[in-house]
Amino acid sequence: MELEAKEMNIPITKTIFGKEEAEAIVKPLETGWVVQGPNVAKFQEIFANFTGAKHAHATTSCTTALHLGLEAMGIGRGDKVIVPSFTYIASANAVEYTGAEVVFCDIDLRTFNIDETKLEEIIKNDSSIKAIMPVNLFGLCANMPYIMELAEKYNLKVIEDSACGFDGWIGNRHSGTFGDVGCFSFHPRKSICTGEGGMLITNSDEIANRVSQLKDHGASKSDLQRHKERGGSLLPDFTMRGYNYRMTDMQGALGVCQMEKKEYIMSGRREVASRYDTALKDISQLITPFTPKNYKHGYQSYVCIFTDGEDISNLTKEQIDRINIKRNIFMEKLEEKNIATRQGTHAVHTLRYYKDKNLFNDEDFLNSYAGDRLSIALPLYAGMSDEEFEYIISNIKEALA
Ligand SMILES: Cc1ncc(COP(=O)(O)O)c(C=O)c1O
Repeated sequence: MELEAKEMNIPITKTIFGKEEAEAIVKPLETGWVVQGPNVAKFQEIFANFTGAKHAHATTSCTTALHLGLEAMGIGRGDKVIVPSFTYIASANAVEYTGAEVVFCDIDLRTFNIDETKLEEIIKNDSSIKAIMPVNLFGLCANMPYIMELAEKYNLKVIEDSACGFDGWIGNRHSGTFGDVGCFSFHPRKSICTGEGGMLITNSDEIANRVSQLKDHGASKSDLQRHKERGGSLLPDFTMRGYNYRMTDMQGALGVCQMEKKEYIMSGRREVASRYDTALKDISQLITPFTPKNYKHGYQSYVCIFTDGEDISNLTKEQIDRINIKRNIFMEKLEEKNIATRQGTHAVHTLRYYKDKNLFNDEDFLNSYAGDRLSIALPLYAGMSDEEFEYIISNIKEALA
């Protein structure tokens, strides 16, 4: 067993890069066109086609895409935006960049997504709320059809944080296409990767135009456009205060290659997820991910809830804290066997900045607190070998015995 543990080393995920990426990434160096140019344009076009969105704009990250989307929708000082309290901190930070205020909403622990049944109560009581930012966490869409109904009823904007949402669907609609705007991440923890990188999609011409300017210092014409046209020696007008959130063309080249491999990447991830579902279904200490009917999970992560075999239908903070100690021991045991795991993500209201600012208690959003303390993401990547998979499962069983 000692020997086995030394030989096996299982990361939480793996990027799927090959010689295609290695070749594609040097081409911009040869042509000299290294800022957003032909490869970024191609990546955007492929991404828009795949998701079914009218427009796609590549950015430096999902966080900057969220910032751009909020600003392009006119969200700013004096406004409030609803964000689930169980998400990566970047969702809330992007709202703060605009000067708007974050209003947290708890999640449904079964899906890890915003608890849509709590939304109307929050919206009804606060006329400053101007937008909702549902997060399609770990690859599973939030209840977007219902959220869009509410948004229409109360005239709110919707920006989907689809950082993890690649290839997640409700029926035949891709994650990020329900709201006014959807934003994706290509960080190495995500299914397709460009190093850092993000994408904003929208069906609105007006938002798309604003985003293309805002991400490029507010310039009324992109560098690529200017260089292609006569009169490129003169700088264009700058009609708004913008940012530099442009993706490089090397990243664009990576994005194009990754989109060409998406079937392999996604079928590989789904196959491992399905094998976990089967192998873990009789283990009473773990609840495996739930996929509602008509939803297709994108499996950015395979996140279970560690229950230690307890009934968690009426959780208390004391119960969560007690089980949390055991979850952490379980994770340490797997780490000792060189199997990487992670907590799913964090409860943002418990993080010092947001906690101090709003004087939150951990139990203010109890399901989010439970998500933070009880979730566990298992290794997931395309190409996981049978040997690796069996090694993970046998060690999970041993650690729980
Ligand atoms: C839910 C969510 N939102 C936003 C982000 C930020 O993405 P990026 O690192 O591309 O800025 C992440 C990244 O982990 C995330 O998980």
